[in-house]
Amino acid sequence: MTFQSMWAELLPLGRSSASGGYRRFAWTGADAECREWFREQAEARGLAYEVDRNGNQWAWLGDPAAGDAVVTGSHLDSVPDGGAFDGPLGVVSSFAALDELSRRGVEFTKPLALVNFGDEEGARFGLACVGSRLTAGELTVEQAHRLTDADGVSLPRAMEAAGYDPDAIGADPERLARIGAFVELHVEQGRALDLSGDRVGIASAIWPHGRWRFDFRGEANHAGTTRLVDRRDPMLSYAETVLAARREAELAGAVATFGKIAVEPNGVNAIPSLVRGWLDSRAADQHTLDLVVTGVEKAAREYAAAHGVDLDVVRESFTPVVEFDHALRDELARILGKDTDLRVPVLGTGAGHDAGILSGRIPTAMLFVRNPTGVSHSPAEHAAEDDCVAGVLALADVLEGLACR
Ligand code: GLV
Ligand code: MN
Ligand code: MN
Repeated sequence: MTFQSMWAELLPLGRSSASGGYRRFAWTGADAECREWFREQAEARGLAYEVDRNGNQWAWLGDPAAGDAVVTGSHLDSVPDGGAFDGPLGVVSSFAALDELSRRGVEFTKPLALVNFGDEEGARFGLACVGSRLTAGELTVEQAHRLTDADGVSLPRAMEAAGYDPDAIGADPERLARIGAFVELHVEQGRALDLSGDRVGIASAIWPHGRWRFDFRGEANHAGTTRLVDRRDPMLSYAETVLAARREAELAGAVATFGKIAVEPNGVNAIPSLVRGWLDSRAADQHTLDLVVTGVEKAAREYAAAHGVDLDVVRESFTPVVEFDHALRDELARILGKDTDLRVPVLGTGAGHDAGILSGRIPTAMLFVRNPTGVSHSPAEHAAEDDCVAGVLALADVLEGLACR
């Protein structure tokens, strides 16, 4: 199977004909199709396939119990109307890199595994990286069991409906103890490689980031008959808060986004009773991120008070700054530096990844593949085929360098 044929197989799964984007949400039918594809790829190569207690899929070459395994992979789920590359590029490249290494006839001295982490984007239950967080013990079983989607379906019921056992989930230190290094290849979600003219980069760090839910509660009333002065309209304080988020982020050199909103009763001729907005904010360091979020919350409270609206702010998720393992990063640079045609810059990112979650437990590293527009979390996300192939070869070099010594 070539990179291109695997890519073509995966391309139609979970794609919306209306938007052209992907809706591969955890534990849905589209997710099941992607997971089935992973299983088939593993079995077609004679790899030992297993699903761990948290629903992450693994494909092993060599004995997992031997320890010091080299693991690569990413995720197959998507954000709402996401692109084809965020996640799948890393998974497809893993299989393609393994094929490249078998063409080279290399002999591994360490076990090798490919992985598809479940529910990386958190599109359905609001929390990103659920599969890796559970495995790392960063999310407790009780917290996971309390997660619900927009239709009120709980994570346990969703897992059950997809044929998985929600009572089995939890930290998996034995599994992590078997891993010596995890390398995740990912499409770049910015334009650093495009601007530097390089096909492939190595990650240095991930910005600290989190998600906060702002609930503005006012009073539902008639849009035609309620005098403006008599209204308690939460939409007004929400709108002012969106502008405050932009202002605070600009001042701090950070980013802040309200990208998701839920309105009740959501009627065109009714003043809302509730506006729920989710803030995603990220910054280069913790202090700056704290300043931004505190600033947005303070402004939101003032606006809410001015409109007679109640406000609750809940932090739904948080990931501290991640500094990828320096020794592993240097090792990747050394391995890739041997090929004089390939310059491999080291760059940071504002995007979250399973490699970031696991970095607290095991040595992790990331490779980025050039994205000519930088667009991501959108159907327009893209990487050129020859850059993807360069990524596969770089990953193969890395796996060979790490698992054949
Ligand atoms: C995941 O892609 C994130 O950065 O939110
Ligand atoms: Mn993503
Ligand atoms: Mn991703």
